[in-house]
Amino acid sequence: MKPFNFFLVTDTHYFEPSLGASGKAFDEYMKREQYFMAESSDIIKAVFSDIAADKETEYVIIPGDLSKNGEIESHKSFLKELYKFKDAGKKVFVLTAGHDYNEKSRAFVDDERIEVEGTPFKLLPKLYKDFGYSQAIAVDEQSLSYIADMTDGVRLLAINCDGEGNPKGAVDERLSEWIKLQLENAKKSGCEVIAICHYPIIPPVPVFDLVGDAKLKNWRDTAALLADNGVKLVLTGHMHIQSVNKFTSENGNTLVDICTSCLTGSPAKYRKVSYDGEKIDVRSIDVPDFREETNGVPLKEFFDNQFRYSIINRVNGIFNGEGIAKKIGKKLLNGITVGGLGRLLLVKVDKSIRKKKFIDLAGDIGIAIFAGDQPFVAGTPVGDAFGKALDRLGFVLKKVEPKLAKNGVKPDLKEMLLNTIGNNKGYSDNNVIIYIQNKS
Ligand SMILES: [Fe+2]
Ligand SMILES: [Fe+2]
Repeated sequence: MKPFNFFLVTDTHYFEPSLGASGKAFDEYMKREQYFMAESSDIIKAVFSDIAADKETEYVIIPGDLSKNGEIESHKSFLKELYKFKDAGKKVFVLTAGHDYNEKSRAFVDDERIEVEGTPFKLLPKLYKDFGYSQAIAVDEQSLSYIADMTDGVRLLAINCDGEGNPKGAVDERLSEWIKLQLENAKKSGCEVIAICHYPIIPPVPVFDLVGDAKLKNWRDTAALLADNGVKLVLTGHMHIQSVNKFTSENGNTLVDICTSCLTGSPAKYRKVSYDGEKIDVRSIDVPDFREETNGVPLKEFFDNQFRYSIINRVNGIFNGEGIAKKIGKKLLNGITVGGLGRLLLVKVDKSIRKKKFIDLAGDIGIAIFAGDQPFVAGTPVGDAFGKALDRLGFVLKKVEPKLAKNGVKPDLKEMLLNTIGNNKGYSDNNVIIYIQNKS
Protein backbone atom coordinates (compact mmCIF):
# COMPACT_ATOMS: atom_id res chain seq x y z
CA MET A 1 0.00 0.00 0.00
CA LYS A 2 1.23 3.53 -0.66
CA PRO A 3 2.01 5.59 2.45
CA PHE A 4 -1.14 6.78 4.16
CA ASN A 5 -0.53 9.98 6.13
CA PHE A 6 -2.74 11.37 8.85
CA PHE A 7 -2.84 13.65 11.86
CA LEU A 8 -3.71 12.00 15.14
CA VAL A 9 -5.31 14.22 17.78
CA THR A 10 -7.10 12.91 20.84
CA ASP A 11 -8.85 13.81 24.08
CA THR A 12 -9.51 17.35 22.94
CA HIS A 13 -12.00 17.81 25.82
CA TYR A 14 -13.46 20.87 24.12
CA PHE A 15 -15.42 23.15 26.47
CA GLU A 16 -17.61 25.93 25.11
CA PRO A 17 -16.28 28.96 27.02
CA SER A 18 -19.56 30.92 26.99
CA LEU A 19 -21.05 28.26 29.32
CA GLY A 20 -18.81 29.68 32.05
CA ALA A 21 -15.43 28.66 33.43
CA SER A 22 -14.46 31.05 36.20
CA GLY A 23 -15.06 31.86 39.85
CA LYS A 24 -14.35 30.20 43.18
CA ALA A 25 -15.96 26.84 42.39
CA PHE A 26 -13.99 26.72 39.12
CA ASP A 27 -10.68 27.50 40.86
CA GLU A 28 -11.43 24.75 43.35
CA TYR A 29 -12.22 22.33 40.52
CA MET A 30 -8.99 23.17 38.67
CA LYS A 31 -6.95 22.19 41.73
CA ARG A 32 -7.30 18.58 40.65
CA GLU A 33 -7.60 18.83 36.88
CA GLN A 34 -4.67 17.85 34.68
CA TYR A 35 -5.82 19.76 31.61
CA PHE A 36 -7.18 23.21 30.81
CA MET A 37 -10.89 23.83 30.54
CA ALA A 38 -11.27 27.62 30.12
CA GLU A 39 -8.48 27.67 27.52
CA SER A 40 -9.46 24.47 25.65
CA SER A 41 -11.32 26.27 22.87
CA ASP A 42 -8.32 28.53 22.09
CA ILE A 43 -5.88 25.61 22.21
CA ILE A 44 -7.97 23.48 19.86
CA LYS A 45 -8.53 26.33 17.41
CA ALA A 46 -4.77 27.03 17.28
CA VAL A 47 -3.90 23.36 16.65
CA PHE A 48 -6.68 22.87 14.11
CA SER A 49 -5.63 25.95 12.15
CA ASP A 50 -2.06 24.57 11.93
CA ILE A 51 -3.40 21.21 10.75
CA ALA A 52 -5.71 22.86 8.20
CA ALA A 53 -2.73 24.79 6.80
CA ASP A 54 -0.76 21.57 6.21
CA LYS A 55 -1.34 20.77 2.57
CA GLU A 56 0.45 17.39 2.57
CA THR A 57 -1.86 15.57 4.95
CA GLU A 58 -5.50 15.00 4.12
CA TYR A 59 -6.72 12.96 7.08
CA VAL A 60 -7.39 13.73 10.74
CA ILE A 61 -8.25 10.98 13.23
CA ILE A 62 -9.65 11.72 16.72
CA PRO A 63 -10.28 8.68 18.96
CA GLY A 64 -12.62 10.12 21.58
CA ASP A 65 -13.27 12.40 24.54
CA LEU A 66 -14.05 15.18 22.12
CA SER A 67 -15.89 17.35 24.68
CA LYS A 68 -15.13 18.24 28.28
CA ASN A 69 -18.06 16.38 29.78
CA GLY A 70 -20.71 15.93 27.12
CA GLU A 71 -22.11 19.49 27.16
CA ILE A 72 -24.27 19.79 24.03
CA GLU A 73 -23.00 23.34 23.48
CA SER A 74 -19.40 22.08 23.55
CA HIS A 75 -20.25 19.48 20.91
CA LYS A 76 -21.93 22.11 18.72
CA SER A 77 -18.90 24.42 18.89
CA PHE A 78 -16.46 21.55 18.36
CA LEU A 79 -18.44 20.45 15.31
CA LYS A 80 -18.05 23.94 13.82
CA GLU A 81 -14.27 23.42 14.03
CA LEU A 82 -14.59 20.02 12.34
CA TYR A 83 -16.64 21.54 9.50
CA LYS A 84 -13.86 24.12 9.03
CA PHE A 85 -11.55 21.16 8.48
CA LYS A 86 -13.94 19.85 5.87
CA ASP A 87 -13.92 23.24 4.13
CA ALA A 88 -10.11 23.07 4.12
CA GLY A 89 -10.34 19.74 2.30
CA LYS A 90 -9.55 17.50 5.25
CA LYS A 91 -11.25 14.18 5.90
CA VAL A 92 -11.97 13.70 9.58
CA PHE A 93 -12.82 10.45 11.38
CA VAL A 94 -13.84 10.51 15.03
CA LEU A 95 -14.84 8.12 17.75
CA THR A 96 -16.84 9.28 20.75
CA ALA A 97 -16.12 8.20 24.34
CA GLY A 98 -17.27 8.48 27.94
CA HIS A 99 -16.73 12.22 28.25
CA ASP A 100 -18.94 12.84 25.22
CA TYR A 101 -22.23 11.77 26.74
CA ASN A 102 -21.57 12.12 30.44
CA GLU A 103 -24.67 13.09 32.39
CA LYS A 104 -22.61 15.29 34.72
CA SER A 105 -22.24 18.19 32.29
CA ARG A 106 -21.26 21.22 34.32
CA ALA A 107 -20.16 24.82 33.94
CA PHE A 108 -18.91 27.38 36.47
CA VAL A 109 -20.78 30.67 36.84
CA ASP A 110 -20.68 33.25 39.66
CA ASP A 111 -18.54 31.13 41.95
CA GLU A 112 -20.94 28.22 41.59
CA ARG A 113 -20.88 24.94 39.73
CA ILE A 114 -24.05 24.69 37.63
CA GLU A 115 -25.63 21.93 35.63
CA VAL A 116 -25.83 22.39 31.85
CA GLU A 117 -27.50 20.36 29.12
CA GLY A 118 -25.68 17.14 28.28
CA THR A 119 -25.81 14.89 25.22
CA PRO A 120 -27.50 11.48 24.99
CA PHE A 121 -25.26 8.68 23.74
CA LYS A 122 -27.60 7.82 20.86
CA LEU A 123 -27.40 11.37 19.51
CA LEU A 124 -23.62 11.20 19.00
CA PRO A 125 -23.57 9.34 15.64
CA LYS A 126 -26.12 11.86 14.34
CA LEU A 127 -24.05 14.83 15.50
CA TYR A 128 -20.85 13.39 14.07
CA LYS A 129 -22.43 11.81 10.98
CA ASP A 130 -20.06 13.60 8.59
CA PHE A 131 -16.99 12.46 10.49
CA GLY A 132 -17.06 8.68 10.15
CA TYR A 133 -20.59 7.37 10.50
CA SER A 134 -21.91 8.41 7.07
CA GLN A 135 -18.82 6.90 5.40
CA ALA A 136 -19.29 3.63 7.29
CA ILE A 137 -19.58 0.33 5.43
CA ALA A 138 -20.95 -1.25 8.63
CA VAL A 139 -22.07 0.06 12.01
CA ASP A 140 -22.54 -2.07 15.12
CA GLU A 141 -25.76 -0.44 16.34
CA GLN A 142 -25.28 -1.60 19.93
CA SER A 143 -21.81 -0.23 20.64
CA LEU A 144 -21.79 2.35 17.79
CA SER A 145 -18.51 0.94 16.52
CA TYR A 146 -18.05 1.32 12.77
CA ILE A 147 -15.79 0.47 9.87
CA ALA A 148 -15.32 2.95 7.03
CA ASP A 149 -13.34 3.28 3.83
CA MET A 150 -10.78 6.03 4.27
CA THR A 151 -8.96 5.79 0.97
CA ASP A 152 -8.31 3.16 -1.68
CA GLY A 153 -7.43 -0.07 0.11
CA VAL A 154 -7.43 1.42 3.63
CA ARG A 155 -10.25 1.06 6.14
CA LEU A 156 -10.70 2.51 9.58
CA LEU A 157 -12.12 0.24 12.27
CA ALA A 158 -13.49 2.43 15.07
CA ILE A 159 -13.98 0.26 18.16
CA ASN A 160 -16.34 1.95 20.61
CA CYS A 161 -15.45 0.48 24.00
CA ASP A 162 -16.68 3.50 25.99
CA GLY A 163 -20.33 3.81 25.09
CA GLU A 164 -23.56 2.60 26.65
CA GLY A 165 -23.89 -0.45 24.44
CA ASN A 166 -21.24 -2.67 25.98
CA PRO A 167 -19.33 -3.08 29.27
CA LYS A 168 -17.25 0.06 29.92
CA GLY A 169 -13.67 -0.17 28.76
CA ALA A 170 -14.18 -3.65 27.36
CA VAL A 171 -14.59 -5.47 24.07
CA ASP A 172 -16.97 -8.29 24.96
CA GLU A 173 -17.56 -11.51 23.05
CA ARG A 174 -20.36 -10.05 20.96
CA LEU A 175 -18.30 -7.04 19.85
CA SER A 176 -15.26 -9.29 19.24
CA GLU A 177 -17.35 -11.37 16.82
CA TRP A 178 -18.47 -8.23 14.99
CA ILE A 179 -14.86 -7.01 14.76
CA LYS A 180 -13.68 -10.38 13.46
CA LEU A 181 -16.33 -10.36 10.75
CA GLN A 182 -15.36 -6.84 9.63
CA LEU A 183 -11.69 -7.82 9.49
CA GLU A 184 -12.46 -10.94 7.46
CA ASN A 185 -14.49 -8.82 5.01
CA ALA A 186 -11.67 -6.29 4.74
CA LYS A 187 -9.21 -9.07 4.00
CA LYS A 188 -11.46 -10.47 1.26
CA SER A 189 -11.57 -6.98 -0.26
CA GLY A 190 -7.78 -6.70 -0.06
CA CYS A 191 -7.94 -3.78 2.38
CA GLU A 192 -5.45 -2.83 5.07
CA VAL A 193 -7.19 -1.88 8.36
CA ILE A 194 -6.11 0.74 10.88
CA ALA A 195 -8.01 0.52 14.18
CA ILE A 196 -8.91 3.20 16.70
CA CYS A 197 -10.17 2.61 20.21
CA HIS A 198 -10.55 5.17 22.97
CA TYR A 199 -9.01 3.01 25.70
CA PRO A 200 -5.39 1.95 25.25
CA ILE A 201 -5.31 -1.66 24.11
CA ILE A 202 -1.77 -2.26 25.35
CA PRO A 203 -1.05 -0.76 28.81
CA PRO A 204 0.87 2.48 28.04
CA VAL A 205 3.24 1.92 30.97
CA PRO A 206 3.71 -1.40 32.83
CA VAL A 207 1.96 -0.41 36.08
CA PHE A 208 -1.18 0.54 34.14
CA ASP A 209 -1.69 -3.19 33.64
CA LEU A 210 -2.67 -3.22 37.33
CA VAL A 211 -5.07 -0.26 37.04
CA GLY A 212 -8.58 -1.27 35.97
CA ASP A 213 -9.50 1.74 33.85
CA ALA A 214 -6.07 2.41 32.32
CA LYS A 215 -6.40 -0.03 29.44
CA LEU A 216 -8.98 -2.28 27.87
CA LYS A 217 -10.19 -5.12 30.10
CA ASN A 218 -8.86 -8.47 28.82
CA TRP A 219 -6.60 -6.40 26.60
CA ARG A 220 -4.47 -9.35 25.49
CA ASP A 221 -7.51 -11.02 23.88
CA THR A 222 -8.40 -7.91 21.88
CA ALA A 223 -4.76 -7.24 20.94
CA ALA A 224 -4.44 -10.84 19.67
CA LEU A 225 -7.79 -10.64 17.85
CA LEU A 226 -6.61 -7.56 15.96
CA ALA A 227 -3.04 -8.75 15.32
CA ASP A 228 -4.14 -12.21 14.14
CA ASN A 229 -6.72 -10.71 11.79
CA GLY A 230 -4.45 -8.36 9.91
CA VAL A 231 -4.38 -5.17 12.04
CA LYS A 232 -0.89 -3.87 12.78
CA LEU A 233 -1.74 -0.40 14.02
CA VAL A 234 -4.19 0.87 16.64
CA LEU A 235 -4.57 4.50 17.74
CA THR A 236 -5.77 5.18 21.27
CA GLY A 237 -6.16 7.88 23.95
CA HIS A 238 -8.04 8.09 27.28
CA MET A 239 -4.99 7.96 29.55
CA HIS A 240 -3.65 11.31 28.28
CA ILE A 241 -0.21 9.84 27.79
CA GLN A 242 2.40 9.69 25.01
CA SER A 243 3.30 6.06 24.63
CA VAL A 244 4.04 3.65 21.78
CA ASN A 245 3.82 -0.05 22.57
CA LYS A 246 4.10 -3.40 20.83
CA PHE A 247 2.28 -6.65 21.53
CA THR A 248 2.99 -9.96 19.83
CA SER A 249 0.30 -12.66 19.83
CA GLU A 250 0.95 -16.37 20.42
CA ASN A 251 0.71 -16.78 16.64
CA GLY A 252 3.59 -14.35 16.23
CA ASN A 253 1.66 -11.34 14.92
CA THR A 254 2.53 -7.88 16.22
CA LEU A 255 0.23 -4.96 16.98
CA VAL A 256 1.49 -1.42 17.64
CA ASP A 257 -0.59 0.84 19.89
CA ILE A 258 0.04 4.58 19.58
CA CYS A 259 -1.49 6.18 22.66
CA THR A 260 -1.53 9.97 22.47
CA SER A 261 -1.73 12.77 25.04
CA CYS A 262 -4.68 14.98 25.84
CA LEU A 263 -4.47 17.95 23.49
CA THR A 264 -5.41 20.46 26.18
CA GLY A 265 -3.11 19.35 29.01
CA SER A 266 0.54 18.44 29.62
CA PRO A 267 2.33 17.21 27.53
CA ALA A 268 -0.11 18.79 25.03
CA LYS A 269 0.99 16.99 21.89
CA TYR A 270 -0.54 15.59 18.76
CA ARG A 271 0.97 13.38 16.09
CA LYS A 272 1.59 13.07 12.40
CA VAL A 273 1.75 9.45 11.31
CA SER A 274 2.66 7.76 8.05
CA TYR A 275 1.81 4.09 7.49
CA ASP A 276 2.39 1.95 4.42
CA GLY A 277 1.30 -1.44 5.73
CA GLU A 278 4.75 -2.29 7.10
CA LYS A 279 6.42 0.92 8.16
CA ILE A 280 4.87 3.10 10.87
CA ASP A 281 6.48 6.53 11.11
CA VAL A 282 5.35 8.56 14.13
CA ARG A 283 6.21 12.23 14.72
CA SER A 284 4.93 14.27 17.67
CA ILE A 285 4.09 17.94 17.51
CA ASP A 286 3.70 20.44 20.37
CA VAL A 287 0.57 22.53 20.73
CA PRO A 288 1.51 25.97 19.32
CA ASP A 289 1.41 29.25 21.23
CA PHE A 290 -2.31 29.81 21.47
CA ARG A 291 -2.70 32.98 23.48
CA GLU A 292 -0.82 35.90 24.86
CA GLU A 293 -2.39 35.13 28.22
CA THR A 294 0.23 32.58 29.16
CA ASN A 295 1.85 35.76 30.51
CA GLY A 296 5.23 35.07 29.04
CA VAL A 297 5.43 31.67 30.70
CA PRO A 298 6.94 29.27 28.13
CA LEU A 299 4.24 26.99 26.80
CA LYS A 300 5.71 23.73 28.10
CA GLU A 301 5.92 25.23 31.58
CA PHE A 302 2.38 26.58 31.30
CA PHE A 303 1.00 23.07 30.68
CA ASP A 304 3.38 21.30 33.09
CA ASN A 305 2.61 23.76 35.91
CA GLN A 306 -1.08 22.88 35.83
CA PHE A 307 -0.29 19.15 35.77
CA ARG A 308 2.17 19.51 38.68
CA TYR A 309 -0.37 21.59 40.63
CA SER A 310 -3.02 18.89 40.17
CA ILE A 311 -0.64 16.05 41.13
CA ILE A 312 0.46 17.85 44.31
CA ASN A 313 -3.13 18.69 45.28
CA ARG A 314 -4.25 15.12 44.67
CA VAL A 315 -1.39 13.68 46.73
CA ASN A 316 -2.07 16.21 49.49
CA GLY A 317 -5.75 15.25 49.32
CA ILE A 318 -4.86 11.93 50.98
CA PHE A 319 -4.01 13.92 54.11
CA ASN A 320 -6.98 16.30 53.99
CA GLY A 321 -9.06 16.64 57.10
CA GLU A 322 -8.52 17.12 60.80
CA GLY A 323 -6.57 14.84 63.08
CA ILE A 324 -2.99 15.09 64.21
CA ALA A 325 -1.81 12.08 62.14
CA LYS A 326 -3.08 13.67 58.92
CA LYS A 327 -1.52 17.01 59.81
CA ILE A 328 1.86 15.42 60.51
CA GLY A 329 1.56 13.34 57.34
CA LYS A 330 0.90 16.43 55.24
CA LYS A 331 3.77 18.36 56.79
CA LEU A 332 6.15 15.46 56.27
CA LEU A 333 5.02 14.94 52.70
CA ASN A 334 5.53 18.57 51.75
CA GLY A 335 8.71 19.14 53.75
CA ILE A 336 10.79 16.02 53.31
CA THR A 337 13.71 16.06 50.86
CA VAL A 338 14.77 13.17 48.67
CA GLY A 339 17.91 12.88 50.83
CA GLY A 340 15.76 12.82 53.99
CA LEU A 341 13.60 10.06 52.63
CA GLY A 342 16.74 8.19 51.58
CA ARG A 343 18.02 8.36 55.16
CA LEU A 344 14.71 6.98 56.46
CA LEU A 345 14.94 4.04 54.06
CA LEU A 346 18.72 3.65 54.54
CA VAL A 347 19.27 4.29 50.85
CA LYS A 348 22.19 6.32 49.52
CA VAL A 349 20.98 9.14 47.30
CA ASP A 350 23.20 10.99 44.82
CA LYS A 351 24.03 14.47 46.06
CA SER A 352 22.59 16.13 42.94
CA ILE A 353 19.05 15.30 44.13
CA ARG A 354 19.51 15.15 47.92
CA LYS A 355 18.16 18.63 48.59
CA LYS A 356 15.24 18.40 46.21
CA LYS A 357 11.85 18.20 47.87
CA PHE A 358 10.30 14.78 47.46
CA ILE A 359 6.95 16.28 46.45
CA ASP A 360 8.64 18.18 43.61
CA LEU A 361 10.36 15.00 42.42
CA ALA A 362 6.99 13.21 42.51
CA GLY A 363 5.66 15.98 40.22
CA ASP A 364 8.66 15.59 37.86
CA ILE A 365 8.12 11.84 37.67
CA GLY A 366 4.36 12.20 37.08
CA ILE A 367 4.91 14.70 34.27
CA ALA A 368 7.64 12.53 32.71
CA ILE A 369 5.49 9.38 32.71
CA PHE A 370 2.73 11.12 30.75
CA ALA A 371 5.18 12.83 28.36
CA GLY A 372 6.76 9.50 27.37
CA ASP A 373 10.50 8.84 26.95
CA GLN A 374 10.78 8.83 30.74
CA PRO A 375 14.41 9.64 31.57
CA PHE A 376 14.69 8.05 35.03
CA VAL A 377 16.44 4.85 33.92
CA ALA A 378 19.17 2.89 35.77
CA GLY A 379 22.37 4.91 35.89
CA THR A 380 20.58 8.21 36.56
CA PRO A 381 20.42 9.56 40.14
CA VAL A 382 16.63 9.16 40.35
CA GLY A 383 16.56 5.75 38.63
CA ASP A 384 19.28 4.39 40.92
CA ALA A 385 17.74 5.80 44.13
CA PHE A 386 14.34 4.43 43.13
CA GLY A 387 15.80 0.99 42.39
CA LYS A 388 17.56 0.89 45.79
CA ALA A 389 14.41 2.08 47.58
CA LEU A 390 12.40 -0.70 45.91
CA ASP A 391 15.02 -3.25 47.03
CA ARG A 392 14.72 -1.89 50.56
CA LEU A 393 10.93 -2.22 50.35
CA GLY A 394 11.18 -5.64 48.71
CA PHE A 395 9.45 -7.36 51.64
CA VAL A 396 6.37 -5.11 51.12
CA LEU A 397 6.33 -5.77 47.36
CA LYS A 398 6.54 -9.52 47.98
CA LYS A 399 3.45 -9.30 50.19
CA VAL A 400 1.47 -7.28 47.66
CA GLU A 401 2.43 -9.21 44.49
CA PRO A 402 0.35 -12.38 45.23
CA LYS A 403 -2.73 -10.18 45.76
CA LEU A 404 -2.27 -8.68 42.30
CA ALA A 405 -1.78 -12.04 40.55
CA LYS A 406 -3.85 -12.63 37.42
CA ASN A 407 -4.44 -16.17 36.07
CA GLY A 408 -1.97 -17.37 38.68
CA VAL A 409 0.83 -15.10 37.42
CA LYS A 410 2.32 -12.70 39.98
CA PRO A 411 3.50 -9.33 38.69
CA ASP A 412 7.12 -8.31 39.22
CA LEU A 413 6.40 -4.95 40.84
CA LYS A 414 10.00 -3.76 40.97
CA GLU A 415 10.47 -4.37 37.27
CA MET A 416 7.11 -2.79 36.45
CA LEU A 417 7.80 0.35 38.48
CA LEU A 418 11.33 0.79 37.10
CA ASN A 419 10.03 0.44 33.53
CA THR A 420 7.29 2.94 34.31
CA ILE A 421 9.58 5.76 35.46
CA GLY A 422 12.26 4.93 32.85
CA ASN A 423 11.69 4.12 29.20
CA ASN A 424 13.73 0.96 28.63
CA LYS A 425 11.92 -0.07 25.44
CA GLY A 426 14.80 0.90 23.17
CA TYR A 427 12.73 3.37 21.16
CA SER A 428 11.02 6.71 21.67
CA ASP A 429 7.36 7.22 22.59
CA ASN A 430 7.33 10.45 20.65
CA ASN A 431 9.31 10.07 17.43
CA VAL A 432 9.84 6.58 16.14
CA ILE A 433 9.84 4.41 13.03
CA ILE A 434 8.66 0.83 13.51
CA TYR A 435 8.61 -1.92 10.88
CA ILE A 436 6.06 -4.73 11.24
CA GLN A 437 5.85 -7.82 9.07
CA ASN A 438 3.14 -10.22 10.19
CA LYS A 439 2.13 -13.63 8.91
CA SER A 440 -1.58 -12.92 9.02
FE1 LIG B 1 -9.84 12.02 28.16
FE1 LIG C 1 -11.53 8.83 28.36
